[in-house]
Amino acid sequence: MTPSLLFTTSTNPSIERTLVQSGNFRRGKQEWRQFADGEWCVRLGERVRGIEPVVLGSTVPPADSIVKLLILLDALRENGSRPATLLLPYFGYARQDRPTHAGEGVAARLFARILGDRTHVRTIVVVDLHSPTARRFFPVSVTNVEAMPLLMRALKRARIQPEVVVAPDAGAIPRARACARAFGATVGWCRKNRPRPNVASIGGCRGAAVKKKRVLIVDDMIDTGGTLIGATRVIRNAGAREIIVAVTHSIFSGNPLPTIKAAGVRRLFVTDSIPHPKLPAWVTVVPVARLFL
Ligand code: R5P
Repeated sequence: MTPSLLFTTSTNPSIERTLVQSGNFRRGKQEWRQFADGEWCVRLGERVRGIEPVVLGSTVPPADSIVKLLILLDALRENGSRPATLLLPYFGYARQDRPTHAGEGVAARLFARILGDRTHVRTIVVVDLHSPTARRFFPVSVTNVEAMPLLMRALKRARIQPEVVVAPDAGAIPRARACARAFGATVGWCRKNRPRPNVASIGGCRGAAVKKKRVLIVDDMIDTGGTLIGATRVIRNAGAREIIVAVTHSIFSGNPLPTIKAAGVRRLFVTDSIPHPKLPAWVTVVPVARLFL
């Protein structure tokens, strides 16, 4: 099989490396430049006319990642490629899938429409898209691939067998249920309110007794860590013996790791959908590249 031509915005080097090493992809020649005012420019170093390229990019903040992705897709189209297959390890802005206050827009829809423009993109593969609503905004077909099986495999390899799986908010309940089924554990969930943006207030844990239990908290992402820290404190105060966390996307705004640790999390499992240069030993990074193979 001829390997697909892979172009990237360089937001996910570990994923890019694995895809190329698999032999299914060949790195497309491309050169990025940044002008004095901060504008990006890409120059393709090979013919793309008539081929269907694969593009690996992310919409993780800062917004440069989105800008680079759009510029790359435009360069491919301008040079005659067919619409690309877009691999998105993380689709940022997905949480803005409805206005939560009067006067707000729906940024998830905006970016889904721009990225899913049929002239640039034929299909999208995305890892753990935040909500089904966000998925409906894309004008092209979207395959949502789940990282939870990879995280669960990593937990099993580390011989971690949770007795209770807890969703820190209502949105995480389906994930917690699936995970609990796989581990033969019970399911609990917390109630979450957001009094202000980026502030999470977590109520008590319901559905399962956590006292003296090994508890696994699962969610799709950690941003400021507020949700996780709140849930961990609630579960720890309820007498849990040990708290482990498995989350797909680690945004880690404002470096919440020391507070997460201090709240009582013993081990944290995340994927490399969002890369970080250095993480402490109690954080295990699970590669997601195989979801794209
Ligand atoms: C919310 O719906 C998400 O699933 C996460 O729980 C949330 O976005 C995490 O954000 P933070 O870490 O800032 O509480």
